Amino acid sequence: MKVLPLILGAAVLAVTGSAVAGAQTAGDPAKGKTVYARCAACHDLNTGATRLGPSMKGIVGRKAGSVAGFNYSPAMKAKAVTWNAQALDQYLAAPAKFIPGNRMPFAGLPNPQDRADLIAYLKQAAK
Ligand code: HEC
Repeated sequence: MKVLPLILGAAVLAVTGSAVAGAQTAGDPAKGKTVYARCAACHDLNTGATRLGPSMKGIVGRKAGSVAGFNYSPAMKAKAVTWNAQALDQYLAAPAKFIPGNRMPFAGLPNPQDRADLIAYLKQAAK
């Protein structure tokens, strides 16, 4: 019987295709926690402590460049953006492109699903 493998193949294609097509993919906070491991050396999550970068405490809904006492780049301070899911997604995809001249030494997260998972985690955990 040759039909079954064909049907299975089509189903796999359909699933992968829809994951790629969905621009606003739903994030999985549990997976986002793993992605956050790449940020944790420089960003405290929720105590407010400064590392190389500012704390992520309350990041979702916070104005860019607004942690008092943190020595931001002029570019970050001048960026009139509030860190909602969309702005975080754009920044984390390509930090130097979204805010030219910002000083975050991080190339970005090219995978949209990684970003969606990470943002879901930040919403939940960076309080
Ligand atoms: C090697 C250190 C480093 C890594 C790794 C890093 N960052 Fe940063 N991040 C910084 C620094 C430094 C700044 C401040 C940049 C500036 O002032 O231009 C910053 C700024 C930010 C800001 C803006 C904060 C604000 O208060 O406006 C966000 C959001 C952010 N980082 C998120 C992340 C996330 C999420 C990750 C992981 C995917 C990450 N960063 C990885 C160092 C880092």
